[in-house]
Amino acid sequence: MSGNHKKRAFDPLRFFTRLKRSIRKRVLFRKFGEAWNAPKEALQNRSYESYDAYLEHQKAKLETHDFADYDVAFRTALRERLAALEISWPGRTVLCLAARIGTEVKAFLDLGCFAIGIDLNPGEENRYVVHGDFHDLQYAPNSIDVVYTNSLDHAFDIDRIAKEILKVLKPEGLLIVEAVQGRDQGVNPGFFESFFWKNIDELVRVFENAGFKVTRRTAITHPWPGEQICFGGTAIPVSSRAQRSEVEGLRRKSPDV
Ligand SMILES: C[S@@+](CC[C@H](N)C(=O)[O-])C[C@H]1O[C@@H](n2cnc3c(N)ncnc32)[C@H](O)[C@@H]1O
Repeated sequence: MSGNHKKRAFDPLRFFTRLKRSIRKRVLFRKFGEAWNAPKEALQNRSYESYDAYLEHQKAKLETHDFADYDVAFRTALRERLAALEISWPGRTVLCLAARIGTEVKAFLDLGCFAIGIDLNPGEENRYVVHGDFHDLQYAPNSIDVVYTNSLDHAFDIDRIAKEILKVLKPEGLLIVEAVQGRDQGVNPGFFESFFWKNIDELVRVFENAGFKVTRRTAITHPWPGEQICFGGTAIPVSSRAQRSEVEGLRRKSPDV
């Protein structure tokens, strides 16, 4: 065969894995449907019969997707934009909320941080992420320098999550939220999202009402169009030129996992 149109050989394992995922998605769709509370309001929640139903739905995403390519591309994109913040990263303690297989954890490790993630479903033998619910964090009050999350669209109770983050962050610690654009900005929630906004401003307001202060807002394009919003962080020193080159060195040395 000539040119770039080589046919991929039939791989029965790949075929059955994809078939199984697609059947599982259909079953989940039948069970959870597409019903939202207050769909016209600034903030909306998916309707669940109970908290257990929410947990079951949220835990199911891992088994219905393949995240291998995402893991490489998002790790690189996030590492680059975190490095651009010019924060003194080495040695910072970082907690990543709803971190799935740990892609964002790896980005922070690349920068020299002590980082760990929590997720309802981290899969088996995950070196980067432990089991946890972001509505009930298992970490000590005032113990963490930086909390990162890009998963607030998977919240059940956003106010409770904001309180939990406030509890575990050190005073003047840094919260980094990455959020996809809202419905009025042209994005609609997917099948696994449980919480959504019309505009990112509405999400920011939730955190301001909980006591956080915005220190920076930056547009992002990967893995989706949205914003990176930094809250607080005034206790975290800005990196010096020497520390920045140290971070460069760490990034070059980071293993490919
Ligand atoms: C869109 S994925 C994002 C994963 C990860 N942040 C990334 O970018 O690779 C959302 C994740 O939120 C997790 N999740 C949903 N509800 C959660 C909860 N209450 N507590 C912790 N994790 C939750 C899901 O298991 C899923 O892994």
